[in-house]
Amino acid sequence: MTAQELRWHLYADSLRLAERAARAILAAAREAIAARGRFRIVLAGGTTPRAVYARLAAAATDWPAWEIWFGDERCLPAADAGRNNRMAADVWLDRVPIPPESVHAIPAEQGAAAAAAAYARALAPLPGFDLVLLGLGEDGHTAGLFPARDWNGAAVLAVGDAPKPPPERVSLSAATLSRGAQTLFLVSGDSKRDAVAAWRAGAAIPAAAIRPAGGVDVLLDLAAWPGT
Ligand code: 6PG
Repeated sequence: MTAQELRWHLYADSLRLAERAARAILAAAREAIAARGRFRIVLAGGTTPRAVYARLAAAATDWPAWEIWFGDERCLPAADAGRNNRMAADVWLDRVPIPPESVHAIPAEQGAAAAAAAYARALAPLPGFDLVLLGLGEDGHTAGLFPARDWNGAAVLAVGDAPKPPPERVSLSAATLSRGAQTLFLVSGDSKRDAVAAWRAGAAIPAAAIRPAGGVDVLLDLAAWPGT
């Protein structure tokens, strides 16, 4: 397996991190749409991306050329505010003219096993992604890949015992999440400092298992930076 090529980008605070991340996503979109007529992005869940997605909602770009996929989803009812796709829809996707058929939510309301199988079928024809967005948990997890669990048992994993509630989730595997031409981690806040320090020290955390050929760019704010 290729080593993980890591590039660290430090910003003064979460506001500047969000601004820079939104600009990087829009630049990736411009490049992909100019080259291939479409931009295929995998979205991160959790709370950190919210400010980034809100900025994208105000952007001028060729929205009909965007194709939205999700890195992981919580097994909650489709309309539940805790769903990652609901957060993205509320602050961004429902506010821009991306065709509904271009937004590929993980059907996690079906339960982890059925949803993982359905999403794997949907992903199977794709040659990869233009951009993969990911977050970092305090324990080093990313998407639905948690320490001491299987990160590559299938292209899309059914997770039944996630330490971060809810326990039942669906997650793209480390290998699937490594199929982005570009990969951006968005990391903010002092609660992530220990995970960043472990990552930089070479610990085998789930985030370190994301190894795209083009390397990984980690955008983080000073609060999350361990100082070394
Ligand atoms: C989720 C996410 C998860 C998240 C990290 C960071 O469903 O919770 O997929 O992997 O990205 O836990 O979450 P925060 O951005 O909320 O700190």
